[in-house]
Amino acid sequence: MTFQTQLRIPGPTPLPERVMRSMNRPMIDHRGPEFAAILSEITEGAKRVFKTSNDLLLLTSSGTGGLESAVANLVSPGDEVVVALSGNFGERFAALAAAYGADVARLEFEWGQPVEPDDLARVLEQHPKSKVVLLTHNETSTGLTNPLQRLTRVARDAGKIVVVDGVSSISSIAIETDAWGIDVAVSGSQKGWMAPPGFALVSVSERAWAQQAKARSPRFYFDWKEAKTWAEKGMTPFTPAVGVAFALQEGLRMLEEEGLEAVYERHARLARATQAGLEALGFQLYAREGYRSNTVTSALPPPGLDVAAFRKLLDTKYGVVIAGGQAKMTGKMVRVGHLGAVAEGDVVQVLWAIEQALEELDIAPADGRGVAAVTSSLQGVAAATR
Ligand SMILES: Cc1ncc(COP(=O)(O)O)c(C=O)c1O
Repeated sequence: MTFQTQLRIPGPTPLPERVMRSMNRPMIDHRGPEFAAILSEITEGAKRVFKTSNDLLLLTSSGTGGLESAVANLVSPGDEVVVALSGNFGERFAALAAAYGADVARLEFEWGQPVEPDDLARVLEQHPKSKVVLLTHNETSTGLTNPLQRLTRVARDAGKIVVVDGVSSISSIAIETDAWGIDVAVSGSQKGWMAPPGFALVSVSERAWAQQAKARSPRFYFDWKEAKTWAEKGMTPFTPAVGVAFALQEGLRMLEEEGLEAVYERHARLARATQAGLEALGFQLYAREGYRSNTVTSALPPPGLDVAAFRKLLDTKYGVVIAGGQAKMTGKMVRVGHLGAVAEGDVVQVLWAIEQALEELDIAPADGRGVAAVTSSLQGVAAATR
C-alpha cells in the first residue's frame, strides 16, 4: 500500500507542502504591483543562488527554452561553436546550436566520463574562430558532474563566451557564476528550485550582452533585450507562468532558510547514501568515481533485471518513481533523482522499495542490505560531523 508517491526522477521534483500552498491562490494581474514584487524577489533570490551580479532573466519556458535563448542571442548562422559533451543533454545542446545554423565543433567523451579540461583547451586552439563554448555542468542522462570551474577557466583563458547548462545543478550543486567567469548560466524551475516546470532562469554577463548585440540569429520570444527591458518595469514581455512564480518565490525562501551551503551538503550526503544503497544491491554505478552527481545517480542493473518491469513494479506497488536510461541507454540503466525536496527518510524508503522489488523479481533476497548501506552511509556522515 502506498499513500504518497516518491517522485525520484531527476526533475520535475516533488513539491514541498509550503510550495503547493503558495500556488493555491487567485490569479493576479501580471502587469500589476503584486507580480512586480514577486518578480523582483525571485530575480534577486536567484542571483544569490547563481552567485552573480549579472542580469538574471526569467523566461516562461522549460530549461531548453533558456538554452535556446542563449544560442538565439549569441550565435549567428555559420558561426563556429564548440560543444563539449558526454551524454544526452550535451548532444541536445549540440543539436540546438546546429539547428540555428552554427558550425558545431564537438568535443566528445564516452557517456559516464567527464569532459577533460586539457582536451577542451586543445580543441579551442584548433578552432580559433569560435566565439562561444557550450558546456553542461550536470549531465543528467549519465549522473555526472563535469569539472565546471576548470572547464570555464580554460574557455575564458581562450577568450570565449562561456554558456553553461546548469538546468539540473544550479541550486543543488555549488556554482559560482561570476567568480568562475560564466557568461551565461541556465537553470529550470522544476529541478532543485522545488517548483513546477515553467521558468527558465538565465544569467547574462556584460560580455554576453556585447555578443548579443552582434549576433544575427532570428529571435523573438526569447529575445533577451526584450526580457531585460520589461523586467526593468517589473514585468515580462509576454504572459509569464504566474502560478509557477508563486511556487518559485516560496522554493527560494526555503532554500535561503536552509542556507545554500547546507542545501549543497544535504545533496552530497544523500547522493552518497543512494550510491551506497544501490551498490549494496548489486547495481553498478555508471558515472566515473569522483564525478558522480549529487542530484541524480545512474546505475547499471544487476544481471537479469528487466529495467522496465522493475520500474513498473516500483511505481505500481511501492509508489516509487525512478527514471530509466535515455537514448542509447534506454532499458539499460536506472537513474534515481535526489534533488530539491529530498531528505534522509526518502532515500531509505526508495532503497527499501528497490530491495523489495528485486526480491519479487527473483534477482536478490530482500535481506536489508540496501537499507543498511544507506543508513550506515548516513550515520558515517553524522558521526564524522559530531
Ligand atoms: C542537464 C539538462 N539540460 C537540459 C534539460 C532540459 O530541460 P527541460 O526538460 O526543462 O527543457 C534537462 C532536463 O532534464 C537537463 O537535465
